Amino acid sequence: MTDRPDARLTHIFDDMVASLRQFIRERRVTHEEYRRAVGFMCEVAERGEVPLLMDVFLEATVVDNADKAGTEMSVEGPYYLGAAPVLAAPYVLPQRSDEPGEILMLSGTVRSTDGVALGGAGVDVWQSDARGAYSHFNYPEPRYNLRGRLSTDDKGRFEVRTVIPSPYEIPKQGPTGALLNKMGRHAFRPAHIHTRLTAPGFETLTTQLYFAGDPWLDSDVVGAVKHSLVIAPVRHDDPADLRDRGFAQPYYSATYDFALRPMLR
Ligand code: BEZ
Ligand code: FE
Repeated sequence: MTDRPDARLTHIFDDMVASLRQFIRERRVTHEEYRRAVGFMCEVAERGEVPLLMDVFLEATVVDNADKAGTEMSVEGPYYLGAAPVLAAPYVLPQRSDEPGEILMLSGTVRSTDGVALGGAGVDVWQSDARGAYSHFNYPEPRYNLRGRLSTDDKGRFEVRTVIPSPYEIPKQGPTGALLNKMGRHAFRPAHIHTRLTAPGFETLTTQLYFAGDPWLDSDVVGAVKHSLVIAPVRHDDPADLRDRGFAQPYYSATYDFALRPMLR
């Protein structure tokens, strides 16, 4: 006795296999190439690169299937850790005592697509550091460095202090990087800050903010950049302002207003 078939799963898998069989016929894929593909998939799994491979080549296309109302989505990528610390206002993303990089004050609002401010919305933020490294994945401690969860105030506003991340290359030592190299492709992603926004009754929005002028905006290895998600931080160096804020160096500020889609009942 089998379980009742899952109709959506059956449909998707049947169609996917049919598309792959058609591709094998059209490209006249040889048995040797087929065996190499199987070996490649085994190596991807052994090296723990299944999320990386999938997210590099396919996640942006899945994201583009989403409804277009509200702020555009972007990829989550393989470097999200749930359960980052819940921060208390005034928000500062956890940082090492010698955290490199320029200070960024990132502020904005979270609203519904019809403009109503969403107080108490969850804003989960994670990013690479100013050298392109993610805590936990590229350096072990502190596990939640540059990761944290904050909430909007009663007017739907938030502000968080962080550092400007840098562009980075996805890992090149493993099979995903080797594949890109054989295809003659670079492995860079433009600098970005990940956000995951939640509010009861609204679709969760996972997206990324990019930086104007980044050299990789138009050739992101993952193909995830959307121009509506590009911010242009402004530099501040007025000594009185720096003194008021307690900053020993100039800082940048940027604002982004997010719009969440109401959940369909
Ligand atoms: C990222 O956003 O960090 C990412 C996304 C897809 C693949 C690799 C990294
Ligand atoms: Fe990322």
